Amino acid sequence: MGDLITMDDLTNKEITTLLDNAERLLPIAKGEVHLPLLEGKVLANMFFENSTRTRMSFESAMKRLGGSVLNFSSAGSSVAKGETLYDTMQMVDGYADVAAIRHPRQGAAQYTADAIDIPVLNAGDGAGNHPTQTLLDLFTIREAHGTLEGLNVVLVGDLRYGRTVHSLSHALVRFGATLTLVSPDSLRIPSEIVSDLTADGAKVTETADLTATIDDADVIYMTRIQKERFPDEDEYSKVAGIYMLTASDLAGAKGSMIIMHPLPRVNEIHPSVDSTRHARYFQQAFNGVVARMALLCDCLGVKIPKKVK
Ligand code: NCD
Repeated sequence: MGDLITMDDLTNKEITTLLDNAERLLPIAKGEVHLPLLEGKVLANMFFENSTRTRMSFESAMKRLGGSVLNFSSAGSSVAKGETLYDTMQMVDGYADVAAIRHPRQGAAQYTADAIDIPVLNAGDGAGNHPTQTLLDLFTIREAHGTLEGLNVVLVGDLRYGRTVHSLSHALVRFGATLTLVSPDSLRIPSEIVSDLTADGAKVTETADLTATIDDADVIYMTRIQKERFPDEDEYSKVAGIYMLTASDLAGAKGSMIIMHPLPRVNEIHPSVDSTRHARYFQQAFNGVVARMALLCDCLGVKIPKKVK
């Protein structure tokens, strides 16, 4: 693999290998084993948009493997002086071995990958895609259920602007999951994504009623309403807070059902859910480290030993 811009850049076999490798790297991510597989390598973390988990887990992944990180954020940089994305990224080509980029503009990661030679990893491009998040999401689901196949996965919230679900929905379908898409009418998943999903023979149901989906779900994936992507504040206020899970909503849920969220949560999951057996979102965020470790090793051509100890 070179660049990772959308999940289409990976075959199912490559995804499975990345997840297997990620699993092997767990002792390193936990700090139990020290193995400097990426010593001497440099990652450029190019964040033109806010981030907590994606940026920090990329950094943790690189550092746990003995590599180093250049952290860029557009605030405080020459972007404020009017430097173009193209010019900024030319520097990175010389300063680092791999770049993770997050940008508010859809297509910015592909644009960058076309403009520079080092591998580019899309860490979120506007309302487009977020494939590195999908890897950790798939890892988390497989960790909980032992498989991705045949699961009933409910994706909830802002399916229109939410890039995590754009990348995740397609990947889940490729691995044989059944999808239920829960959103208000104005935030339905883009129709071209539905066409892609159903063209692949997927079973996809769209509804606005979250409550009715809870008891049959294996995974409930909550998302934040993407306030920053709304063209006007009034439209946002109409849907803000529309879905909120509380512990009492889960009385009829399967014991094995997990609740995920890419985070940050605003009010989609009440803190009462945190202490239930279903809550998996903090573990999910931790899994970002192993998923990104596996990815960094892969694109830098570094082999992971069969047994890490
Ligand atoms: C998501 C993102 O940036 O798309 N966060 C993340 O990477 N974990 C979700 C969000 O911001 O709502």
